[in-house]
Amino acid sequence: MSQAKIYVIHENEAWVEPLRAAFAEQQLPYEEWHLDQGVLDFSSAPPQGVFYNRMSASSHTRDHRYAAEYTSCVLPWLELHGRRVVNGSRALRLEINKIAQYAELQRFGVRVPRTLAAVGRDHVVEAARQFKGSFITKHNRAGKGLGVRLFHSLDALENYVKSPVFEDSVDGVTLLQEYIKATEPFITRVEFVGGQFLYAVRVDTSLGFELCPADVCEVGDAMCPVGENPSSAAPRFEVIPSFSSPIIERYRKVLAANDVEVAGVEFITDESGELYTYDINTNTNYNSAAEARAGTYGMRAVAAFLGRSLESLGRIDAAAD
Ligand SMILES: Nc1ncnc2c1ncn2[C@@H]1O[C@H](COP(=O)(O)OP(=O)(O)O)[C@@H](O)[C@H]1O
Ligand SMILES: [Mg+2]
Repeated sequence: MSQAKIYVIHENEAWVEPLRAAFAEQQLPYEEWHLDQGVLDFSSAPPQGVFYNRMSASSHTRDHRYAAEYTSCVLPWLELHGRRVVNGSRALRLEINKIAQYAELQRFGVRVPRTLAAVGRDHVVEAARQFKGSFITKHNRAGKGLGVRLFHSLDALENYVKSPVFEDSVDGVTLLQEYIKATEPFITRVEFVGGQFLYAVRVDTSLGFELCPADVCEVGDAMCPVGENPSSAAPRFEVIPSFSSPIIERYRKVLAANDVEVAGVEFITDESGELYTYDINTNTNYNSAAEARAGTYGMRAVAAFLGRSLESLGRIDAAAD
């Protein structure tokens, strides 16, 4: 039998680059499963190891239309065989369905913005009638700000929906959500690794809605084209030293109840100081410049956590012998 290792399930080379570096640094054995296309022999047994699922809700935008669906076949197969899966099928379910995220958040008393889910263009317009003030649209299956647009009137939404510019969510579900106006233009993203709080990062939103923290996105390439302005003086991402809030414990419970061990959860604070949580990223990325300034490193923590998981696998095997 070949030696147990860490298997990374993903579909985006660029996003695993920092993880590869952390594995190399920590001398951990790993293999990548690029699950864009392939064959799953369901009747076979998976190899021994720790499987880390990094499938992304935005995989279809990289021409990997069925990567998430393929992964949704592979994860139950791994789980059937009792393999150690980090961010398994329940995490993937949340990753690709924002309403499912909101249901889990609300179950644990975490406030989410008022949201309607609409299928069909006419229904998108109809749903928007519910809002008196400004509202935003977004894709139910999204990531990197897909379909996020701010509207101040029903007319503007109607024009957009009827125009060729309207872009439907890949799952056909458009969310309409009350616009949470922050006092200062930033959101907070709370990172968890191994189910534990790692750090919180403040993200400047004054330049746009696409807030992918990965460095490949920050250079403004085709994957994250919006809102990059090198002349901006303040860094877009800033780790908040000693962030402390009761929301951490609530998020920890939501994640634990859903077998999510690695994730970044985002909230906005409105003008009255109320927190609204609106996004759980089970496939999270870290901003290296912000991390370097703070001296804390997400991918190193992920690699170390996976390394510990692999080690305890060895101990379980030894105990069973
Ligand atoms: N209800 C809202 N009110 C104000 N801004 C929002 C709201 N929802 C999203 N945004 C802005 O849009 C960004 C992307 O939205 P998000 O729901 O995180 O989608 P994605 O999953 O694509 O990242 C957020 O980080 C935030 O800046
Ligand atoms: Mg987000």
